Amino acid sequence: MTEEIDTPGVPDGTVLVIFGASGDLSRRKLMPALYHLSREGLLPPCLKIIGLGRRIQETEEFRLKMKHRVIQYCSHKMEDRFWGPISNSLFSMKADYSQDSTFVLLKQIIEETERQWGKKANKLFYFATSPSHFELLAEKIAEFGMNEETKETWSRIIVEKPFGLDLKSADRLNALLNKYYDEEQIFRIDHFLGKEAVQNILIFRMSNILFQPLWNREYIDHIQITIAETVGVEGRVDFFEQTGAIRDMIQSHALQILAFLTMEHPSSLDPEEIRDEKVRLFRAIRRIKSEDVPKISVRGQYSEGVVNFELVPGYLEEPGVSKDSKVETYAALKLFIDNFRWRGVPIYIRTGKRMAARKTEIFIQLKQVKDEAMPMLLQKQKPIPNTIRMEIQPRAGIEIQMGWKPPGLLTEVEPTSLTIGGKAMLKEPKAYERLLLDAMRGDSTLFIRYDEIREMWKIVDPIIKTWERENKELKENNIPLPKYPAGTQGPKVAKEFIQKDHRKWTIIEN
Ligand code: BG6
Repeated sequence: MTEEIDTPGVPDGTVLVIFGASGDLSRRKLMPALYHLSREGLLPPCLKIIGLGRRIQETEEFRLKMKHRVIQYCSHKMEDRFWGPISNSLFSMKADYSQDSTFVLLKQIIEETERQWGKKANKLFYFATSPSHFELLAEKIAEFGMNEETKETWSRIIVEKPFGLDLKSADRLNALLNKYYDEEQIFRIDHFLGKEAVQNILIFRMSNILFQPLWNREYIDHIQITIAETVGVEGRVDFFEQTGAIRDMIQSHALQILAFLTMEHPSSLDPEEIRDEKVRLFRAIRRIKSEDVPKISVRGQYSEGVVNFELVPGYLEEPGVSKDSKVETYAALKLFIDNFRWRGVPIYIRTGKRMAARKTEIFIQLKQVKDEAMPMLLQKQKPIPNTIRMEIQPRAGIEIQMGWKPPGLLTEVEPTSLTIGGKAMLKEPKAYERLLLDAMRGDSTLFIRYDEIREMWKIVDPIIKTWERENKELKENNIPLPKYPAGTQGPKVAKEFIQKDHRKWTIIEN
């Protein structure tokens, strides 16, 4: 959990196979991450990157396109001495995953590479496709013997989230993976775990005596977790129509943040200990009955609006989305953790695409100082609750609001704040850079164990199932989901949802 990548030792002779290489994840995250690794001298000298996709371009064109994406998404300037080694090792391959010929050819390319290198290759298969392909890919890699390891070389798979589409399919996928791969070969990724500011949540709350004693229901009124994005579906309609916001952003990203924020103290920072505590926490989250779903959740869909001074279409107008789609682009939930530390403290989670600003943050509102503890004069004043705002992105930082007497003759309390960090983070895809490197080095610390995934599905499954049932009715009766104009704070129903509890959402702004 350090700022710097501190242990080199990237194994030489590695073939990285990216399934879904022409997709958004590969363009926006993986290629920039590889470029950064190259800048830092952390790529293996013998490296081959094979990008597979249904509509992928020929190698030369693909290289050029990826170079443009790196220019677009990286904060560092493009330098050929760093891009060159990637470009030269990058190959594209048109692929239909249902055809054996795809895997025959892939295997041949890997074997040919091994011949050129004069040694066996390590193989890292990245599943950057939509989740519906994962089982097939895992099976085919194994069927063609590419899951085999030797004494000197390894074969690993990185499985993107969502891992399955619900508990049942996740169990099936996991059973299938276990059939062909040892646990050490499987890297279940949630890239939020690679973000420094997410790793810092645990350190911040556990290493400061200022906060440690407050971290419970005695002092905390409620918690809000917000993951707001300005991007829309970015050409990923097929993926998003399968997932919606709840599977895409809440089932893993938001719940992992919640776990770091509320889990019990592990006895060490050993990854297994941390995972054990996370699992315990997930188990303590109150199970949601289907009849309670309308009380603890709302959803919505963006309509046309202005984001970053640009007019953008509504979700239903995005190319490829059916006019009666009920897939939510916004979701908000209220959860409770039924353990001694948290019983009774509501935890509000919300996420949305095409919101007013890109912001991932945790907001903790502490309880008011009791009246009797305040001098009479101050009791009449509007109370100022202490709040802690932990911004994960775009600027990693913490802001603590306190009351104080401003200079002057009057005795009154005004809010003031203490800010830590908040330094503008560069547009660096730090998380993927770190995680790709870790996977190549065989370090699974920042990856997710399957029992965590199971527990996370158990939390959201009842909501998903209820929404699916409701969506059928909405479709039959031609009723749209609640709308919010792109570039705003979300649907009105979400505002009303939290207002019912006499609370309000924090403002999403830059
Ligand atoms: C991915 C989701 O896991 O996370 C995307 O599939 C989302 O829909 C992305 O845009 C957000 O990640 P980041 O790191 O850009 O905040």
